[in-house]
Amino acid sequence: MVKPFFFRNHPAVPSLEERIEKIKKENVPAHVAIIMDGNGRWAKKRSLPRVAGHHEGMKVVRKITIIADKLNIKVLTLYAFSTENWKRPKKEVEYLMKLPEEFLGIYLPELVEKNVRVQMIGDFDSLPPHTRRAVRKAMEDTKDNDGMILNFALNYGGRSEILSAVKGIVRDVNLGKLSLDQLDEERFSSYLMTHQLGDPDLLIRTSGELRLSNFMLWQMAYTEFWFTDAYWPDFDEHCFLDALEEYQKRSRRFGGI
Ligand code: IPE
Ligand code: IPE
Ligand code: MG
Repeated sequence: MVKPFFFRNHPAVPSLEERIEKIKKENVPAHVAIIMDGNGRWAKKRSLPRVAGHHEGMKVVRKITIIADKLNIKVLTLYAFSTENWKRPKKEVEYLMKLPEEFLGIYLPELVEKNVRVQMIGDFDSLPPHTRRAVRKAMEDTKDNDGMILNFALNYGGRSEILSAVKGIVRDVNLGKLSLDQLDEERFSSYLMTHQLGDPDLLIRTSGELRLSNFMLWQMAYTEFWFTDAYWPDFDEHCFLDALEEYQKRSRRFGGI
């Protein structure tokens, strides 16, 4: 339906720049984590193969990285592949394992130029060699950048991360490097892959699913959750700002009053 003329270009609809301007600089979440979900359904809706959705999702990764950096977010963690995603058909898994190369092949120079540092959490050693190569190169080429950290959760699982931490702790106790009375929450966190990243302040999940799917289980104890029905390839800067504006209205009490 064609909108009547008086609804067109409504002056009350703020532009991206106006919205960014209004974000309170002193209350920007330091660490934002995103479960990028819905690529398959986005593709299905268009009668395209699922991998077309994954491909489209790459452009959104770039867009959101740029706006997150602009907003002075310190860490952006993107859930790209879970330890459970190996259950998918071989062809899809193969495609997903090629995405880091494809993404970084196109966008790494821009990330370097924007002073973004690429990092990864997850089981690196079980990735195919070509995926490891691409991720290693990106981490290496950006290691001296001191701007935003773009952290990919790749072959990541929260339970497996906690289990590795426990194993590391037991090993250090057996070696006499750590005593049990030294072990507190802070020390435990230092054994997690996120030890230098801190806990997420805000979690965004796209595609209407209301669950964590094994993402940062320990770290999300006090994270603010924000969900949207938008599929990841349809997610954009305006959606991201919706999440941020809502975050800024929340009262985080951490158990206090
Ligand atoms: C998210 O989209 C990407 C990954 C999990 C790798 P999905 O592939 O899960 O898309 P849906 O949820 O099936 O629509
Ligand atoms: C979570 O999405 C993992 C990533 C986005 C990488 P899934 O699509 O795998 O989650 P479930 O299976 O719907 O819980
Ligand atoms: Mg999914």
